[in-house]
Amino acid sequence: MSSLVDKYPRVSDMVGVAKRRMPHFAAEYLFAGTGYDEALENNRKAFNEVFLVPQYLKGTVNPNLKTKLFGYEYDAPFGMAPVGMTSLMWPGAEIALSKMSVKNNIPFSLSTVSCTSVEEVGKHLDGNGWFQLYPPADKVIRNDLLKRAKDSGFKNLIITADIPASSRRERLRMAGVSVPPKNNLRTFFQAAICPSWSIGTLINGIPAFGTMDQYSDGSWHGNAKSKAGFAGSQMQRYLDWDYLKEVRDIWKGPIILKGLMDIEDAIKTTKFVDAIYLSNHGGRQLDIAPSTLQILPEIRKKVGSKFPIIIDSGFYSGQDICKGLMLGADFVMTGRPFIIGLAALGAKGANHVHDILKDELSNIMEQVCAENVKELKNQKVVLGNNFKLNNLN
Ligand SMILES: Cc1cc2nc3c(=O)[nH]c(=O)nc-3n(C[C@H](O)[C@H](O)[C@H](O)COP(=O)(O)O)c2cc1C
Repeated sequence: MSSLVDKYPRVSDMVGVAKRRMPHFAAEYLFAGTGYDEALENNRKAFNEVFLVPQYLKGTVNPNLKTKLFGYEYDAPFGMAPVGMTSLMWPGAEIALSKMSVKNNIPFSLSTVSCTSVEEVGKHLDGNGWFQLYPPADKVIRNDLLKRAKDSGFKNLIITADIPASSRRERLRMAGVSVPPKNNLRTFFQAAICPSWSIGTLINGIPAFGTMDQYSDGSWHGNAKSKAGFAGSQMQRYLDWDYLKEVRDIWKGPIILKGLMDIEDAIKTTKFVDAIYLSNHGGRQLDIAPSTLQILPEIRKKVGSKFPIIIDSGFYSGQDICKGLMLGADFVMTGRPFIIGLAALGAKGANHVHDILKDELSNIMEQVCAENVKELKNQKVVLGNNFKLNNLN
């Protein structure tokens, strides 16, 4: 690692720099939760209730972070969660983050509501991307999206279940977040004092819905609507098991169901898809939701040791990732950290986030004499009094 590590040894050290370089509306879009930000805060608090008792005297340890998922070996047990409108937060983000993920052989997930199109991003992913589907109400659009993702080389499909309605997102309302950004004096001023963001946006183009915009055209099946309104209306869909079955019949490849929090849902899901993805959307949907870390041990117990569990929401460090793996996850995804790195320091910042997470995790594995990621599951975990939730079943 370069001297960047001396200046920014942790992801949290880059947060202030990122916020200064992003217009206020873009920073609020990235950092806000929903409601009173209780879920957002609880996501972080849960980590402070998990401890690892070190065990020594096992001789030399060379931690190996390589992790297999759906038969493919990644270089680390973590990757980039789907984050919509990424290029609103930092210009050209989807391409920069795709390149980072390919370079480091970790997964990159592209949101349905990305700013850069699925076709364009697919070109940078070496056939290794994950496409995230907000299940459109319109099945013609859904089928077309699935085809476009497949044709663009995406191999895994994430279906997001946790948006039966868009949440209130009070901070986003107050900050006036929209795509494209509102053309008013306030937005203009916020952008003007962030020259790197503004110049980047001039070069990369005003953020739009790169994948979804084509469906809002009146010539497409259905009626024309405003672009933002159209993308929004397509995203609000109550998912059900029949809909999942239909997607299962269309998508040839692994399917991951994202946004699960309930034990019964998780058990039932194992019959329909290839992996469960525990997530509370980074505290952006249900403000009174528990943290994913808190529900993980129970869900792992109920679905058995073999069924793949992916997790996100609040994982900001190698320590956090380690705790997720110890408590039963096979893979950890993270949303905000890579964008924080990108906004703070450009493409090298996103790469630096990867290096930090990997180095922190590897360091802990040496401390506890774990040779590989699987061995983390056998470590002595101690849970604080405030960790456990009663009556989860
Ligand atoms: C700004 C922002 C936009 C997001 N957009 C999407 C999205 O388009 N699709 C999706 O499934 N999840 C989306 N998420 C949720 C992330 O996939 C992930 O669950 C969340 O970021 C995890 O929490 P973390 O940011 O604390 O790592 C978004 C999250 C953020 C912060």
